[in-house]
Amino acid sequence: MCGIIGYIGEKQAYPILIDGLSKLEYRGYDSAGVALLDEDQLEIMKSVGRLSKLEEKIGEQVPFGTMGIGHTRWATHGRPCDMNAHPHSDCTGEYVVIHNGIIENYQALREWLKTEGHLFRSETDTEVLAHLVEQYFRGDLKAAVRQVLEKVSGSYAMVVMSERDPGRLICARKDSPLVIGLGEGENFIASDIPALLKYTRRTIILEDGELAEVSRDNVTVERCGQLVTKEVFNVEWDVVAAEKEGFEHFMLKEIHEQPKAIRDTLRSRITADGLVNLAELNLAEDEIWQLRKVVMVACGTAYHAGLVGKYVFEKLLRLPVEVDVASEFRYRNPLLGEDTLVVVISQSGETADTLAAMRLAKEKGSPVVAITNVVGSTVSREAGRVIYTWAGPEIAVASTKAYITQLIVLYLLALQIGQSAGLIPEAEIMAMTAALKKLPMDVAGIIEKEDVIKEFASRIKDWEDTFFIGRGLDYAVALEGSLKLKEISYIHAEAYPAGELKHGTLALITENIPVIALATQPDLYEKMWSNIKEVKARDAYVLAIVNEGDNETGKEVDDVFEIPATNPIFTPVLSVIPLQLLSYYASVMRGCDVDKPRNLAKSVTVE
Ligand code: G6P
Repeated sequence: MCGIIGYIGEKQAYPILIDGLSKLEYRGYDSAGVALLDEDQLEIMKSVGRLSKLEEKIGEQVPFGTMGIGHTRWATHGRPCDMNAHPHSDCTGEYVVIHNGIIENYQALREWLKTEGHLFRSETDTEVLAHLVEQYFRGDLKAAVRQVLEKVSGSYAMVVMSERDPGRLICARKDSPLVIGLGEGENFIASDIPALLKYTRRTIILEDGELAEVSRDNVTVERCGQLVTKEVFNVEWDVVAAEKEGFEHFMLKEIHEQPKAIRDTLRSRITADGLVNLAELNLAEDEIWQLRKVVMVACGTAYHAGLVGKYVFEKLLRLPVEVDVASEFRYRNPLLGEDTLVVVISQSGETADTLAAMRLAKEKGSPVVAITNVVGSTVSREAGRVIYTWAGPEIAVASTKAYITQLIVLYLLALQIGQSAGLIPEAEIMAMTAALKKLPMDVAGIIEKEDVIKEFASRIKDWEDTFFIGRGLDYAVALEGSLKLKEISYIHAEAYPAGELKHGTLALITENIPVIALATQPDLYEKMWSNIKEVKARDAYVLAIVNEGDNETGKEVDDVFEIPATNPIFTPVLSVIPLQLLSYYASVMRGCDVDKPRNLAKSVTVE
């Protein structure tokens, strides 16, 4: 949801801003802009479209200046166009602002500012910030921003720069991420770490309610006017992890990284004798026995991981599990308390609705466990109990390796709870951890067959509608498969519990329409065969994902893809891989922008 970058130092800022924005484009890419300050002269340049459009527009006329700010936008208030692109400025053009978030009271502020004589140029909520700074500026930019923050409500990560008070950038955050990168004689500000990594690994993570002054040689952070001492956080992973490394797209690279991501996520969490050791969970046996319910809350792909978690927890622990979309959960006054374990799942750890859901659960006294991929993210800092998915940075908007590792953590979590409370016999745990350890090899084996899946993609690529069906765990994976296909190839894809087809959706099944049937749950084979027959009887094209050694399902369908045999509870980790590759190749064949699908963003930090 919008990417923010700021630089102040001795070098020319423009290439640094552009490079930083290129690492943040996953957060939004409908327009981009930069503002540079050179010898007290502010220059703003912006363009609708991708960052490359801005670069084209600027061409050789590269702006000068050793300090500047840049922004890549995901539109919320106001359509994507040059006028609504950031940075925004005030009436005089002396103050510039970039912002990620939503100023909820912007209408009222705008009306008031108009009565004060301010003239607005854009349709955005952000522009009020620039005019407010103008309104309050009395020679000290930081003091003006402090006053602005008292006036606004909503969410923001923002950076303000002014030719009237050069030599420093002022930034602040509430409910949208912001990181400061510490250099030698230069400092940086960004929405996310990948934008800084080329320059520094030393970072300060700004918390909600903090305001920072960033100059060339110094960074100070304050809260409610009082200086606070911040810890310097050293980023462990390196810049290569955030590059494409020869792959055509980040998504393909990230699909290929999945065996390693699983291995990294399992590492040191399974003991030499095959038991689970999720030390960070830190749930005592009596706390586990107190639990009457588990609630999993997340958005998007992470929500689909939660759906798999439900089947797994209910099967292994016989505990009732609810799974909820965070944007629904937070507004329905959910029934929570000490006896309800709330599992929050978020790759970025910054999704606005997921954060709100987590805070609500904590307020209501529920123990919270967060599963996240980003060390230092808001979720990781606030949850109390955090289990990391060690997937490494995920850049493609469509989530792949984060999903797989979320599943792995959910398995480990269920097994750890079962083990600690003596709910699962040790021999069963050992058998399951042995199966988990084999998954990276199995996933690698599937990826090696990507040419076969490419061929399937060519069969579905020209259709505008597709269906994914499955039962039990396969239904949860069908939902994720259909989301992948629609978000990156724009082919309409619906996922259905296979038994539900006949209650309406079957009416849409026509000759050759693609149906992807997942049939990996042996106890549901026969039921799935009936459902597959129902669509075959209407002449659909059926591609089935089946277990190795299942010689029956294939007889009914047009194409079959086999996944290696494993414990049926773990098949989601394997069956989703061909679906990821299917979507990837369908998207490439349709000429879509795989890594940056239209209208979407990787990190959704607004409601
Ligand atoms: C966006 C992304 C999805 C992601 C969802 C939740 O929609 O495009 O890939 O699953 O947000 O994000 P989170 O970071 O909370 O897992």
